[in-house]
Amino acid sequence: MTSTPRVLAIANQKGGVGKTTTTINLATGLAQAEQRVLLVDLDPQGNATMGSGIDKRSLTHGAYAVLLGLSTIESSRQRATHATYDVVGANRDLAGAEIELVNLPHRERRLKEALALVADQYDFVLLDCPPALNLLTVNALVGADAVIIPMQCEYYALEGLSDLVNTIKMVRNRLNPKLEIDGLLRTLFDPRNSLAQQVAAELDQHFGDKVYASIIPRNVRLAEAPSHGMPGLIYDPTSRGAQAYAAFAQEVLARSHAAHAHAEASTAASTTPSKPTDEAPPPDTQENPR
Ligand SMILES: Nc1ncnc2c1ncn2[C@@H]1O[C@H](COP(=O)(O)OP(=O)(O)OP(=O)(O)O)[C@@H](O)[C@H]1O
Ligand SMILES: [Mg+2]
Repeated sequence: MTSTPRVLAIANQKGGVGKTTTTINLATGLAQAEQRVLLVDLDPQGNATMGSGIDKRSLTHGAYAVLLGLSTIESSRQRATHATYDVVGANRDLAGAEIELVNLPHRERRLKEALALVADQYDFVLLDCPPALNLLTVNALVGADAVIIPMQCEYYALEGLSDLVNTIKMVRNRLNPKLEIDGLLRTLFDPRNSLAQQVAAELDQHFGDKVYASIIPRNVRLAEAPSHGMPGLIYDPTSRGAQAYAAFAQEVLARSHAAHAHAEASTAASTTPSKPTDEAPPPDTQENPR
């Protein structure tokens, strides 16, 4: 059986909504569930790199080299210092890739092409996007099967969501027809704040089962962890924040199993003739066109 990883882009062009914290802790939670995980840092800020215990200033190869075709993922990845997932790191160099990519062929597909070479080595690939709907984010959306959208439960939470959804639709129409939204994750949640509670409930009503059941609380241990180069799940596994991310990782795993089962069922349905006929069809129609 060939294995293909589930590729998830963690995206929201709003800054500071918990994309990187989610990416790092999801990578850790999935790795703890015996999954083989690759994290690709697509943000020139390099926060996912540092939060994985890798010094972004000492990177020789990272996402920049991979996107420009100067290096492969295999020769650019490193192991996270305190957790069992691999990282393709990023630093300020990556900001230049945006400009340099413009003149290169397949500029939106370069990450996808690079990931294809390591597809049999991972169960999950997580793409930490920058807070912008730029060519780096488009590369993530083209390479991904699905998008995880972290959202802070605040008054302006929904503002900008339509721009992200429109970008996802554009990518689906033109570049990656299988792209879907895996789910919306409520982050930085403060249960004592009644507005946050109201927004969390509204997201649930509006988006139904697209909203993950797990809610990530605002938790100081999650905020402290990156300065130790550790995911919150490792830094203090008993904290409420870590436990919420452990539950979230299980939820992502369950959705991934459901997506794989669905894909297999549709492949089986499209290769099984719906009505058996006595006569064999002429040879040139026997092949399934897709
Ligand atoms: N649940 C949480 N509780 C407390 N602090 C958090 C939580 N989630 C994230 N933070 C902190 O909030 C800040 C922003 O989080 P993070 O870097 O994950 O967001 P981001 O969406 O990746 O930001 P950017 O858009 O800049 O990439 C960080 O300092 C992080 O440590
Ligand atoms: Mg970030």
